[in-house]
Amino acid sequence: MCGIIGFAGREEAAPILLEGLARMEYRGYDSAGIAVRSEERGLQVKKTKGRLQALFDLTHGGADLEGPLGIGHTRWATHGEPNDINAHPHISEKGNIALVHNGIIENYLEIKEHLIRQGVHFTSDTDTEVVAQLLEFHYNECHSMLEAVGRVLRRIEGSYAFGIICSDYPNALIAARKDSPLILGYGKGGNFIASDVTAIIKYTRDVAYMDDGEIAVVTADHIDVFDAELTPVEKQHSLVDWDVSAAEKGGYAHFMYKEILEQPEAVRKTISPRIREGRVVLDEFSMTAEEAQSISRIFIIACGSSYHVGMVSKYNWERLLRRPVEVCLASEFRYSDPLVDEHSLVIVISQSGETLDTMAAMREAKRLRGRTLAIVNVVGSSIAREADHVLYTWAGPEIAVATTKAYSTQLVLMDLVGLYLGDLLGTVDRAEYDAILSELQALPEKMRAVLADITPIQYFASRYFNHDSIFFIGRNLDYAMGLEGSLKLKEISYIHSEAYASGELKHGTISLIEPGTLVVALGTYGPLFDKAMSNVVEVKARGAEVLAVTTETFRERMEKTADATVAVPDTHPVLQPSLGVVPLQLFAYYVALQRGCDIDKPRNLAKSVTVE
Ligand code: G6P
Repeated sequence: MCGIIGFAGREEAAPILLEGLARMEYRGYDSAGIAVRSEERGLQVKKTKGRLQALFDLTHGGADLEGPLGIGHTRWATHGEPNDINAHPHISEKGNIALVHNGIIENYLEIKEHLIRQGVHFTSDTDTEVVAQLLEFHYNECHSMLEAVGRVLRRIEGSYAFGIICSDYPNALIAARKDSPLILGYGKGGNFIASDVTAIIKYTRDVAYMDDGEIAVVTADHIDVFDAELTPVEKQHSLVDWDVSAAEKGGYAHFMYKEILEQPEAVRKTISPRIREGRVVLDEFSMTAEEAQSISRIFIIACGSSYHVGMVSKYNWERLLRRPVEVCLASEFRYSDPLVDEHSLVIVISQSGETLDTMAAMREAKRLRGRTLAIVNVVGSSIAREADHVLYTWAGPEIAVATTKAYSTQLVLMDLVGLYLGDLLGTVDRAEYDAILSELQALPEKMRAVLADITPIQYFASRYFNHDSIFFIGRNLDYAMGLEGSLKLKEISYIHSEAYASGELKHGTISLIEPGTLVVALGTYGPLFDKAMSNVVEVKARGAEVLAVTTETFRERMEKTADATVAVPDTHPVLQPSLGVVPLQLFAYYVALQRGCDIDKPRNLAKSVTVE
């Protein structure tokens, strides 16, 4: 989604801004722009619809804009179509102020009407331009940028991260945030603001996370932060523990492919620090047995692939914990008057830690006195900071829009939490606890084995990439895994695809199966393999072409019926999705590759969805 970068330093800002925007391209955007200020030329703004390359060409790589102070933005349209005028930065009518914005201003129409009555003219359809104009309006009254920003923030409703420069302030840019992430970066030759740490990681790993209601004044030598009453605030610095190479492709054609290959190591990093002397140790989420006993109901809340992790965990946890587990889409949960109370454990899962619906759902759960645990990948993200407890998935930066390694690390972390709770509740016996734990530790090696043999998947992708509709079927954990396989495929290849619980086929979907329809049949869940097989026979009988994913144990039986079979190593049944999903990710990847799709930046999608 939208990305912000700002720089105040001693070198030319434009090339730095363009490079920072390029590093945030993965988030998804439809237009981009930069504003730079210099003593001689004042404010200069260039913006355009389309890819960053267009902005790069328009500015000759930034050489056309002069000055050491600037802001940049990649936009993902919410108010007004993607075009040059609606792109950020937005400039106030007198041309004094340039502003970039992530988020949505909810009361912008009312403010716009008020300003129009005062004689202000607007050029764009955006909510953001309203803020730039309002700021100029207040600045003209009080002649202090900081004071004017404070007045604007008191007037607007909604979510925002702002980067602002003003032609009267040669050395400073101003930043403010509420419900949309903004990071301060302390560099050697200058200081930064960014909505995403990847934008500035090349220049500094020394950062601070802005909190809601804070305003920052950033110059080449200082960053001063104030609260909403303009009282100075001391910020705690954090050191980003990965470097620029982690966010680069390193010779691979796509980030997605690189990230698929990184899964064994990411899973190892997530698991190994949390297993000590044969026990799960969750330092950031410890509970007494009494506290665990007092949990009457568990909610798992998330969006997209993170929600699919919740689906897997529901099957596993209900079996291991003997507690009701509800998996909820965050966008539904937040408006559903949920039955959360102080005996509810509420788990929110989010790679980015910034998904607005997930954040809002978590706040609702907290309001209802549920105990919240966030499973998050991005350190210091908003959800991580607001939850009662946080456990990080140590997947490292994930750049491809379609998640792979974050999904895999979320899965294993949820397995660890499940075991931890099962142990406290006394619902998992020692033998099963040990068996799951030892298989968890063996997962990275087994994932490596799957990744070592991808030629058959490449072959199947080249055989099936032309289908325009693909069904995924499976039961229990295979169904939950199929949801993710289907999402991966549709996200990046644009093929219509649906996942069904196999047993539901005969209640409708089977009418869509005709000779040649491709069905991806998932048969990795041992306890229900025979049932899964009968569904494969059912669709074969209607002429479907079946690509099956199963385990080594069942390979032979599956091969007798399916047209093509991929087998993954066996593991404990509760962990099987961690292995079974890998061929599904690869299948989606190679199908998209065959179809010539923009794999890392699929159309209309954003990596982190910070609007409702
Ligand atoms: C977007 C991404 C998905 C992701 C979902 C939830 O739709 O494209 O890959 O699963 O958001 O994101 P989160 O960061 O909360 O896990």
